Amino acid sequence: MLIEIEKKSQTYQFEANAGEKLLYAGLRAGIPLPFECATGTCGSCKARVTQGEVDEGWSEAPGKERFKVVKREILMCQCSAQSDCSLSVPTKIVAFRDDDINPDHHIGVITQYEKLTEDVLRFNVEIPTNISFHAGQFFVLQAPEVNGFRAYSMVNYSPGTNQLEFIIKQNPHGGLSKWIFDSDRTQEKLELFGPLGHATFHPDESHDLFMIAGGSGIAGLMSILEYGRQVNYFKNRKASLFFGVRTPADFFFAERLRAVKAQFPDTVSINIAFSNAPPTAEQLSGNDGLIYLQGMVHEHALPAVLEGGGNVMHYLAGPGPMVDALIRPLILKSKIPVHRVRYDKFS
Ligand code: FES
Repeated sequence: MLIEIEKKSQTYQFEANAGEKLLYAGLRAGIPLPFECATGTCGSCKARVTQGEVDEGWSEAPGKERFKVVKREILMCQCSAQSDCSLSVPTKIVAFRDDDINPDHHIGVITQYEKLTEDVLRFNVEIPTNISFHAGQFFVLQAPEVNGFRAYSMVNYSPGTNQLEFIIKQNPHGGLSKWIFDSDRTQEKLELFGPLGHATFHPDESHDLFMIAGGSGIAGLMSILEYGRQVNYFKNRKASLFFGVRTPADFFFAERLRAVKAQFPDTVSINIAFSNAPPTAEQLSGNDGLIYLQGMVHEHALPAVLEGGGNVMHYLAGPGPMVDALIRPLILKSKIPVHRVRYDKFS
């Protein structure tokens, strides 16, 4: 099907396969369509159908709560074309970076599967070809028996790899989460589309990094730390990470975080905040180089942001309410320019 997108004076055209989400087809063709979650929750990929027929897909998608049916407003990440279509997109279309990688469809196989805590799993997916992605990006994944894609950030970083490492938190209401926690899924196949996402790290931008993560939101920030470690970025640039989990038993990736701190003891600061319990005596001893705190992660992170200032890129990753609660004070109170805040919120 031929899809035409109108945006003010510009027109883009691309081909969409039968059943393919319009957003995915457009991004695959290199059209910089607007999106955030790519899974139907945020509403950023809004468009209006001006000609042709579409299948709207997920009818209760939260992202289209306030959409006007009579105006034929749709979510491009949920709709597929049933005929040639024309769409108009109200949101600003932002050009990609020159080094952005066009996302594509893949079939992957789960090759590793490990429980990190009682309710967090780490798994690797192997895809047939080597690809590159920016640190901080994500893929959307769909399991065979579960309808709809879910977004997961890569934990690893490698310029050209067929291994994608993810973590997932147990959620009794989440389709893919329930599927993967039900039994060992090693060797099971998944559909993937990506890489996607704008909360990315680029060493050539030369910023200090200030990062706040809640729970499994740490995934993309681990990828950023890994890339920074590989290119010795923190030799000259500072990084502060605030990572919030409920209790010491919920803290994962301790070894990896200690390794980054040990490699860059003077420039990297790693703070772990437990919301529901105090740190252990051993953690408080400070022997492992990490700083352990009690309380909500934003309560500790925000005062540190206020002192930060300067040439800093801020990364926020975690549940939607946590990220929303941080964006406002960052921009309004701390006067951090919008372009210095990159976020990845999941629901
Ligand atoms: Fe489509 Fe978020 S990108 S709803």
